[in-house]
Formats: sequence, structure tokens, C-alpha cells
Amino acid sequence: MTTFTATALAHPNIAFIKYWGNRDDNLRLPQNGSVSMNLAGLHTHTRVSFDPAFTSDSFTLNHLVQTGASLARVSAFLNLVREKAAKPWYAQVESANNFPTGAGIASSAAAFAALALAASSALGLELSEAQLSALARKGSGSACRSIPSGYVEWLPGSSDEDSYAVTLAPPSHWDLVDCIAVMKDTHKVTGSSEGHQIANTSPLQAARVSGAPDRLQRCRQALLARDFDALAAVVELDSNLMHAVMMTSNPALFYWEPASVEIMKAVPGWRREGLAACYTLDAGPNVHVLCAVTDAPMVKSRLEQIPSVIQVLTATAGGGAHLTFED
Ligand code: PMV
Repeated sequence: MTTFTATALAHPNIAFIKYWGNRDDNLRLPQNGSVSMNLAGLHTHTRVSFDPAFTSDSFTLNHLVQTGASLARVSAFLNLVREKAAKPWYAQVESANNFPTGAGIASSAAAFAALALAASSALGLELSEAQLSALARKGSGSACRSIPSGYVEWLPGSSDEDSYAVTLAPPSHWDLVDCIAVMKDTHKVTGSSEGHQIANTSPLQAARVSGAPDRLQRCRQALLARDFDALAAVVELDSNLMHAVMMTSNPALFYWEPASVEIMKAVPGWRREGLAACYTLDAGPNVHVLCAVTDAPMVKSRLEQIPSVIQVLTATAGGGAHLTFED
């Protein structure tokens, strides 16, 4: 019996302008556009094999067999690909992250970008970058931004077909570095899928969403002009706005740890000293400090001196999802 196999690699991404809250939770159509940078060096590598002889889907992550909700989410995503390809076969999915598990680095973006590419290729679907991005979006919204290369914008669109991400600038456009301060003792927090569903319970969400087009424009401009101070101002504002929504939703979501706040208070001071650095946080306590490549060693060493920081990972701007031909 023939097996249909493909393997793909994708990077996680860090949002400069955040996605938080959907217009349609099922299709993961966002309430606002977002901008991000792919993170080179960190990646998920995924091999998908469809076989008419398989009697169910199986999924391993870092060589550990996954069951329950984790397998169900992968299977539901594979159903979308099977439907598109009109092939009913079950699949074996083997996925591995090269970044530390449990370090609180959001892995769903890289995971669903790699899965979308590997699964669609294995079944012979020839999707455009936009179609692939729209497909990855349905696994995890931010995954659509890990399909194109470099600095990326997710155009919110008005339907399933036109909500996808595009490259704003290639990785070589600007040599920014993301220094990720990984915190000690991060207890399991509310996942983003659940968070998106309660975003509208915050009285601040409407204001955050209505100001997004203006922040997106400021971010695009700063990025294209390589204007670090302008970027820093809008990136920190947008992160604070998203966390204000999280903290005022029902139930309230508090993702910060004391050390997260310590870093958020320190970074603007570093900027006044002359370092090109700014902070942003996703749905977790880790602080991403974006900085100029020349300032990265100093930023990394300062972050390492904070007692609750167990590790500082660094990443430059990365490329898009791609197939790896190793089978
Ligand atoms: O793609 P999701 O559903 O994991 O949502 C990502 C949400 C944030 O990471 C908090 C923000 C973003 O735009 O990446």
C-alpha cells in the first residue's frame, strides 16, 4: 500500500501588533489585523504520512504519543485538508520543536504552519502562499503569519478566503533581534483559543480594536523606515492594550509574573540610556525584548541577571514555512 508523505519546517512568530479576539471563532477570523516577525533558529519540524491502510490518526510531539484534546485538534485540522483534497485517509503526524518544551514559547503558530504545509503537500494539494496561510489560520490564528517570510502582516479579510498573511518585508530588511526572557515556574495558563472567546467580555476590547488600524499603520511605517523609536512606542502600547483587555475580561486573565513587570519597567529606561530595545508579551509571562542586533549582547546579559529569568533565547528575523526533502 502506498504512503503519501511530506515534511515541513516553520518558525514561531512574535506579534508587534497583536491578534486578540475573533469575529468568527470557528473560522478564526480576527477582529483586527496584526503584524509579526518570524523567529529564525526556533522551529517546528513536522512529518505527515497519509496511508489508506491506517485506521485512525496518530500524533507524536517530541516523540511523545499525544491523545485527548491535543490529538483531537490535529485530527480536526487534518479533516480540513482531507476535505480539500477529497482523500479520506488517516495520517501519522510526527512533530518536534527545537526549542525547550514547557519554556512557555507559544508553539501553536509554528506547529500549525508546518502541519498545513506538510499535510497539504502530502495529499498533492498545490496551494498558493495565501491559500496555505488561510488554511494554517484555521489551526491557530497566528499560524497564518508563520507561512510567509520575514516581517509579516495578517490581513483580517472578510471571509475564510481573504483572511491570510503576507510578507511586509524580507528578513534582510532589518536585523532586529528578539531576546526572549524565559521565566521560572510558569504554571499552566489559560490558552489563547479560550482567551479569544472571552475578549469581548472586556469593556476595553472595543477601544483596542477600533484603534488597531491606526497602530497597524504606525507599525508598518516604522518597520519600513527602520525607525526603532517609532516601532518601540507602538509595540509597547499594543502589548499593554492587549494585556489590559486580558486583565479586564471575564474571567480575568493575568499572564504577568513579577519579573515580567520588572522587565517592562526597566526597558524604557534602557532606551533612555541609548539601547534600541522595547518589550512585548504574548499570552504568557515571558518577555520578548526586541532590539537592534548591536545591542543584543547587552540586552541578553541584562535579562540574564534578573533572578527569575532561567534562560534568554535569541532569534533574528526568520524565513517562511518550507518543505524539507528528507524522506
Ligand atoms: O494563534 P493563537 O490563537 O495562539 O493566538 C495568539 C495570540 C497572541 O500570541 C497573544 C497574540 C498574537 O498576535 O500572536
